[in-house]
Amino acid sequence: MDIHLVDGYSELSDIAAGIVTELVNSKNNAVLGLATGSTPVGMYRKLVETYQQGSVDFSQVITFNLDEYYGLSREHPGSYYYYMYRHFFDHVNISPENINIPEFRDGDITAACRQYDGKIETVGGIDLQVLGIGVNGHIGFNEPDRFLKVHTHLVTLAKKTIEVNSRFFASPEEMPGQAVTMGLGPIMHARKILLLASGSSKAKAVFDMVNGKISTKMPASLLQLHRDVTILADREAASMLEEGSFHISQG
Ligand code: PGA
Repeated sequence: MDIHLVDGYSELSDIAAGIVTELVNSKNNAVLGLATGSTPVGMYRKLVETYQQGSVDFSQVITFNLDEYYGLSREHPGSYYYYMYRHFFDHVNISPENINIPEFRDGDITAACRQYDGKIETVGGIDLQVLGIGVNGHIGFNEPDRFLKVHTHLVTLAKKTIEVNSRFFASPEEMPGQAVTMGLGPIMHARKILLLASGSSKAKAVFDMVNGKISTKMPASLLQLHRDVTILADREAASMLEEGSFHISQG
């Protein structure tokens, strides 16, 4: 794991956007695995700016989002569909047919999940997977459990996740208790992983991800087994890491 300590959120966002831009500019039909939540908002803002300056072209890019709440309409401001268009897709030249979000509502969810995984495989897997980390160590919505699933699946959200994420909804009751998430398979098969962590609430999860034993009870710890993981963490998120275990980023 390559851990970079950054000074603050704005630097974290700029460096993350730079890594995405470099990939998109160096590979035709780059496949991006995209994350939501509060952490990557600044990265998307910077990517939009970079696009507006004419320094990146998303026309051939293919995207797969990590997860989506189950049972929310696209129009719901809490949905990740809404989030992605508001923060990113509405402002860049990505082709709508290249956007994939696991926003399954009716019908055979298992079949829809299989199709989602099949589509990822058909395009040759994910080149760069962007991740956040939950305070409980979840990645995507792969929650701490005795088992982790490989494939995209419907998941019951952990109490902690509901507690933390209900801030995105008008009332806690509005927050769905279930979500569809990419499993560990496509994430671990991604050629490169970029994990963003900001704020003191993430310090323990970041410490356990990097130094803890590899356990399904701490899903992010599985990233220790991946050969190309870059972690960008601000001082608060990295506060439990020992000096010397990370690089200081130059901005
Ligand atoms: P956050 O979510 O960026 O809103 O903190 C991260 C996550 O739950 O993966």
